[in-house]
Amino acid sequence: MTKIEIIAHRGASAVCPENTMKAFERALELGATGIETDVQLSADGRLMLIHDETLQRTAGASGWVKDYTYDALRTLDAGSWFHSDFAGESIPSLDMLFNLVQGKRILLNLELKNGVVPYKGMEERVIQATREWKLEQQVVLSSFNHASLVKCKRLAPEIRTALLYMEKLYRPYDYAAKLEATGLHPYKLAAEKEDVSAALAKGIVTYPFTVNDPAEMQRMMDMGVQGIITDLPDVLVSQMAAKTR
Ligand code: G3P
Ligand code: MG
Repeated sequence: MTKIEIIAHRGASAVCPENTMKAFERALELGATGIETDVQLSADGRLMLIHDETLQRTAGASGWVKDYTYDALRTLDAGSWFHSDFAGESIPSLDMLFNLVQGKRILLNLELKNGVVPYKGMEERVIQATREWKLEQQVVLSSFNHASLVKCKRLAPEIRTALLYMEKLYRPYDYAAKLEATGLHPYKLAAEKEDVSAALAKGIVTYPFTVNDPAEMQRMMDMGVQGIITDLPDVLVSQMAAKTR
């Protein structure tokens, strides 16, 4: 069986509140080989892991992440919205996630959420942190903001980048190669079998998102993808095991 990367989307976000340390820890327990998370910047320039640009949905506060300091963000409850069992879970910093995976062979897909809010200096900060923790080999930077990924590549040629996209692209592997990206992260309905193999021939891997249905996981594996981004890493583990039988 070809092994594929099992990438837990916002951690094990089907069973834990997304983008919390609990979700990341659980993902590892469930057999994920990678973690995807969303990176934003606090008002005082700290890298924080949260999906929405605003705090209402997952942290029950008004306003924007960018307007809160690190200390203020750290006091918010990012667990209760999901279930009372998770009351008091906080919004982690990138350093907290780096600390968790230190010494483990885990792929870290850091999605730069800089499409809506143009976080100034985000690329420099993510790269600096990655280098400080010596995680250059494990980190893959992705974004829907492809200009930001080009900037990352220019600043840090040694760190991999991957293009996120929602709609089908024409020869996405040619576009990726032009941007020196080594990954394609298409929305699951934008993934094409022919593109997957043509990309691989150029050394570009394809990890579709967000694939939670076992039949859909199977379809992606049959397409030959090298990784799958899912809220349910344990289901993907079972699906892969079933395939070998
Ligand atoms: O990185 C894959 C996926 O996370 C992109 O979309 O909105 O879930 O961050 P979103
Ligand atoms: Mg994401």
